[in-house]
Order: sequence, then C-alpha cells, then structure tokens
Amino acid sequence: MQIHLIAAARPNFMKIAPLYHALKKEDWAEPVIVHTGQHYDLNMSDAFFTDLKLPAPHIHLGVGSGSHAEQTGKVMIAYEKIIYEKQPDLVVVVGDVNSTLACTIAAIKVNYPIQNSKLKIQNCGRPVVAHLEAGLRSFDRTMPEEINRIATDALADFLWTPSPDGDANLVKEGVDKGKIERVGNIMIDSLEMMRDTIEDENTHLEFGLNKNEFGVVTFHRPANVDNVEILSSLCTSLISISKMIPLVFPVHPRTRKNLEEYGLMPNLAECGSIILTEPLNYIRFMSLVFNCRLAITDSGGIQEETTYLGIPCLTMRPNTERPVTVTEGTNRLCSHTEIESMALDSLKIDRIQRTPPDLWDGQTAHRIVESLKHFRSRQ
Ligand code: UD1
Repeated sequence: MQIHLIAAARPNFMKIAPLYHALKKEDWAEPVIVHTGQHYDLNMSDAFFTDLKLPAPHIHLGVGSGSHAEQTGKVMIAYEKIIYEKQPDLVVVVGDVNSTLACTIAAIKVNYPIQNSKLKIQNCGRPVVAHLEAGLRSFDRTMPEEINRIATDALADFLWTPSPDGDANLVKEGVDKGKIERVGNIMIDSLEMMRDTIEDENTHLEFGLNKNEFGVVTFHRPANVDNVEILSSLCTSLISISKMIPLVFPVHPRTRKNLEEYGLMPNLAECGSIILTEPLNYIRFMSLVFNCRLAITDSGGIQEETTYLGIPCLTMRPNTERPVTVTEGTNRLCSHTEIESMALDSLKIDRIQRTPPDLWDGQTAHRIVESLKHFRSRQ
C-alpha cells in the first residue's frame, strides 16, 4: 500500500514524523514523504527532517512562496502529475496549510484508468484521502487556515480528529459519522518520541537564561504581523513584559520581513531583554518550551504543547480552533491590548498540573496504523 505523507510547512513536519516511523515498521505499508516546498529555508524545513529522524523527502515539488491562489494552484498542478505517475493508494494530508487543501483537491479529483488502479477502497480510480487533525474550527473565516480546514474536511474520505470538539464540528457540518475517527493528538507523539533528546538539549543555557526564568515568544499570523499598528503595539507590549521576565523570540520569516519594513526591529533588538533569533529547529525550540515560565504565541501547535507540559500560554488571538487547550489546558486567549496585564498575571502562577486531554498520549500514530490495518482487512 503506497501511502503519501504530505509535508509542506513547519508545523506539518512534526505531524508526519511519528506516522512515517510507525508505518515504516509495517510490511504492508510503503510510506512516501512528499514535500511540497511551501517552506524551504533551512531552519523552517530541512532542520526538522534531521531532528525528527526523517529521510530526505522522496518527492519534492519545490513550489516555494506566493499568494494563496498561486501557492495552492502550483501545489495542485505539481502534485496531480505525481499522483498520475505514482498512483498512491492513500494520501495523508495534515493540519491546515495551503498545501493541505491543494493536495486534497488534486488527489480527490484524479481518475486513473480503472484497470490500472491499485485502489481497492472505493472502486474508483483515485487514492483515498485522509486528513490528520480534522474537525478543528476557529469559526473565523478571515483566517486562511480556517478555509483550508473546512474545504479539506468537506472533501477527505477519512477524518482523523484530535479531540471530541473535532468530531462534533464535523457532525454539525453534515459529515457522515462513518468517516470520523478520533485518533488523538499526533504532535504529542513527536514530543514523546523526542523527549529524551529535548531534555538533554538545554538551549536556554546558550542564551544565558535560567530554567523557569524566561518567556518564549512566537508570532507569524497575518492578523498580528501584517498590520503596522497591531505589530507596533505588540512590540511595545513585549518590551514592557521583557522588563518583568527576559524573552526569547525566534522570528518567523514573515514577521521578520514586516518588523524590518515597519522599522520596528531596532526597538526590539536594543531593549536589552529580548533575545531575537532565527527560527529554531524542533529540538532547540522544544527545549526552550520545556524550560520556560511562559509562552506568548499565535501558533496552533504551541497552544497544544504547553497544555501538555502544564506551562502557562497566552495566545494572541480572539479565537482558537483548539478549545480544549483553554477548557482543559493552560491556554488563555488575549488581545494585543491585554497581553501585558495577562502576562503579569501568568507570572504569578507556576507550572500547572493537569491531566492532558484524552488521547494526547503519544499513541496516535499507533492508532492510525491499527485503523488502516482494520480497513485493509475489510477490503
Ligand atoms: C504557513 C501556514 C500557517 C502556519 C505557518 C507556520 C498557510 C496559509 N499558512 O504560514 O498556517 O502556521 O506556515 O510557519 O499555509 N518564507 C520564508 N522561508 C520559508 C517559508 C516562508 O522566507 O521557508 C516567507 C516568505 O516570504 C513567504 C512568507 O514567509 O511569503 C509566508 O510563508 P507562507 O508559507 O506563505 O505562510 P506562513 O506565514 O509561513
């Protein structure tokens, strides 16, 4: 069974790694890594493959950056050719980036000559498409990721969800319950797979910081970094927070470009208590998260990782597609005007001991493999 694992952007690499390793152990499975090239910088891409012990991608589409339509279109055109050439049985897309949707559309609409099809699943000439991390909804359609999530879930054949809210959202959207399977949170598999290496890393010491005495900051969402007033107000707040606790800020390429364009970089660089770095690889970044006192972010994955580790997290967004991180975890949503007071508040709390959400246990890849075995046995 040829299984394409689609990887495109930084948050995807952690999601395909545990599944690749689990499938590799099965004699019936031939996992093939397809990198669309949405992220291409060394620190945004290659370093993650090394850290997560992944081989170099078997197929690289090399699409690079572009507008949403350009990027989505380029991935669709390039991946459609690959599908016809390789005729995979299953295509696994993960998360909510432009390539997730692009590969779903490409795969769902191909039509191989039926006699050549290796497909034993739906008796039609195309691969089955599975969406890993299905059902998440922010209910905010100004986010490109929400559009990608809704459209991908409307099209995919298997919807593998991380939490009960995912199941409920899909059912409300009219998805056939038979397509939905709760498998848990695959990011936690990566974290557990790499735990020993992360614990040995101690990145904070390189920056001259003590365990539990610094905050980690990441921002890259268009809503936070593309508008000069918002980005400027965010920078002012970060500078104030850094007077209470030093901050490490690995700067995403989109954020760096805008900080430079709006002339905000010198304020951050010269305030003395914010350490600005290039984006870090998985192990080095997770080492910072393991040892920090507080995370301030707009990322999806960090909301989940901090919840799992019991670290207070302030998410600079009006909503989250990961509500269990708020109801069962350590995450709090905040606006750019509230961030300073909420950071002060968070610094009064230490690590929070809570049971992680159900099925966030490092066994998600195993559950997917078992599910695929069961599926094969029914063919
Ligand atoms: C994408 C995802 C977002 C995810 C994020 C993680 C979409 C719609 N967004 O956002 O969900 O949280 O990845 O990082 O798919 N760039 C580089 N080097 C790279 C990649 C990007 O310099 O390796 C720069 C380019 O100028 C590019 C910009 O960053 O135009 C944005 O990259 P893009 O992949 O379009 O979106 P992200 O903001 O990274």
